Amino acid sequence: QEVENEYYGEPFRSQYHFTPASNWMNDPNGMVYFEGEYHLFYQHHPDGNTWGPMHWGHAISADLVHWDHQPIAIFPDEHGTIFSGSAVADVNNTSGLGTKENPPLVAIFTYHDADAEKTGAIDFQTQGIAYSTDKGRTWEKYAKNPVLKNPGIKDFRDPKVDWYENEDGNGKWVMSLAVKDKISFYSSPNLIEWTFESDFEPDWAAYGGVWECPDLFKLKNNDGEEKWVLFVSINPGGPNGGSATQYFVGDFDGENFTAEEQEVKWLDYGTDNYAGVTWSNVPKEDGRRLFIGWMSNWEYANIVPTEVWRSAKTLPRSLELFHSGEKQYIASKPIEEIKKLRVDSKEVEGESIDLSSELLEIELDIVGADFEFELSNAQGEQVILKKEGNSLSFDRSLSGKTDFNNEFKKLHTAPDLGLDFRSLSVFVDKSSIEFFFNGGELVLTEIIFPENPYTQLKTKGFGEVKKVHSLKSIW
Ligand code: FRU
Repeated sequence: QEVENEYYGEPFRSQYHFTPASNWMNDPNGMVYFEGEYHLFYQHHPDGNTWGPMHWGHAISADLVHWDHQPIAIFPDEHGTIFSGSAVADVNNTSGLGTKENPPLVAIFTYHDADAEKTGAIDFQTQGIAYSTDKGRTWEKYAKNPVLKNPGIKDFRDPKVDWYENEDGNGKWVMSLAVKDKISFYSSPNLIEWTFESDFEPDWAAYGGVWECPDLFKLKNNDGEEKWVLFVSINPGGPNGGSATQYFVGDFDGENFTAEEQEVKWLDYGTDNYAGVTWSNVPKEDGRRLFIGWMSNWEYANIVPTEVWRSAKTLPRSLELFHSGEKQYIASKPIEEIKKLRVDSKEVEGESIDLSSELLEIELDIVGADFEFELSNAQGEQVILKKEGNSLSFDRSLSGKTDFNNEFKKLHTAPDLGLDFRSLSVFVDKSSIEFFFNGGELVLTEIIFPENPYTQLKTKGFGEVKKVHSLKSIW
């Protein structure tokens, strides 16, 4: 793969997943669609390649595939550094921070006051807002921040806000907030004054770590029925260790969220999809619920073997609800726009295939009850995805560089969710591999650090014809 921009040619630099130009990145923040542009903000430490005082980095895209880096959007101030949060288009100017003719974008984020934390205080996380009246290019903090003070709880963060309308057409802003190990809902007419509504903390959910980065939104299931979905990222306590995102399917009446099925559900069975949330204000005509996650895990995020920058985002995905038996799950589909990156598409036959690109999308039909997918190179580096009986596993123990963390070599497994496996599509970038079964009904997102390109694909249990697409870099 020829990389025109030498700067993006460093070892392991993702070629079609979003990365910051330099230094540290974690959670996606403030994703909002506005006047033809998708905004992506992110937790960013601009002065180092490990986690540090948080700012909101920023990028803009017209297609969710190609990104233009923007100047840092939101800087720390006297109330603290800028932790995760969301952004909305305040189209009716309910906040008064713009005008009816030029409505503002409003970002709602957590202030983390590290100085107060050092004094032993526990109320050092509060919520603040900032606004932009120039399509997100520059941001002004609200003069009377914080807008939501801390009631005396150590973990009080990651506000995700969206407009809620009841059947009579009456609306209000609803905030989902991670409060230690529960989700609190607040509401507001104007994004400035917030009223507590309720807590969600079912005793059967996955705990094990602190709850973070909630998201609350509606999705249609495949009977055309609308359900409410609540995302909660937890760290640690994920199904394969460390950080992961659980979700609940149920109902929200403007005040309370109730889950329909008492089952712990995970968005992804790979270890590297965390703190993901969805875009707000996507036009109704588009109809998609668009998602992106942070492609790392707090177990090793700070020590993965990259220097200039640290960590990438997942591929953007469109979320849908589907039934498996009586139960409802979320499918995460790679967005259609990614097809634009295909530069060469081949239909290849046989179980062993030579690969000529490091950037790949591979499409397979699953015909056997058991199957095996292996990428390897002559240097002995390899990854293996395998189903044997009821056990589905991914092995990255020999994937490349793994010596930075003991946990990294561990075998990852996914449970039997009663799926009938029909297809698999696999996206390979310089330091990640993403597996989508049945168009996203089961997903494994995994980072890997091969020191040499994988050159061989070996398969068992798949249809004779395999589609292999070479992809191009977005940079
Ligand atoms: C999740 C998280 C959030 C917090 C942010 C700080 O990864 O811990 O809860 O706002 O990262 O960078």
